[in-house]
Amino acid sequence: MHSHIERILWSEDQISRRVFELAAEISDDFGGHSPAPVVVGVATGAFLFLADLVRKIDLSIAVDFVRVESYSSGTVSNGAPTISFDLKVDVNSRHVIVVEDIVDTGHTLSKVIEHLKSKGASSVSVCTFLDKPARRKVHFQLVGEGKYYRGFECPNYFVVGYGLDFAELYRNLPYIGVLKPELYK
Ligand code: IMP
Ligand code: MG
Repeated sequence: MHSHIERILWSEDQISRRVFELAAEISDDFGGHSPAPVVVGVATGAFLFLADLVRKIDLSIAVDFVRVESYSSGTVSNGAPTISFDLKVDVNSRHVIVVEDIVDTGHTLSKVIEHLKSKGASSVSVCTFLDKPARRKVHFQLVGEGKYYRGFECPNYFVVGYGLDFAELYRNLPYIGVLKPELYK
């Protein structure tokens, strides 16, 4: 598995330091809100980031997941994501923080935000581990007083690890690495 990685962009230590900072910011920003926010992870990619992040958030939050199908195959999004697994928690009149592994074209996030808005969330914030602004096609809009948090700005490579996959593999790598292009071309 490690031999498929061309180079490591963020190590396990760098990741945990950054996650700690993000959680501290979120705890500060939402400290005065009652009820505390609902943290919604986007499955499957956000599972590790979500697990690490919520354990450092010092608020009594609710946690839930949505699943969005956006990838037909390979490394290119098909541009028309759908919600294939919905929330259990009622987000009506709640502050929601969407937790994503990476924002690439922005299609997935726009869909999730629109979905949460339609369910009556009073604000929608986003906390994404990685952001690849160079590839943005859709400019998503936060809801209400929603805030935007991001771990790192990612250069325009296909990356795997820390939840991110290629064909459902490499999610369990503890770091973020660039996958050798010959493995997906
Ligand atoms: P978007 O809808 O194009 O913004 O894509 C978002 C989703 O695409 C993410 O939740 C990831 O699952 C996937 N994705 C985008 N870029 C990468 C990457 O570099 N590596 C692995 N998955 C990626
Ligand atoms: Mg994926």
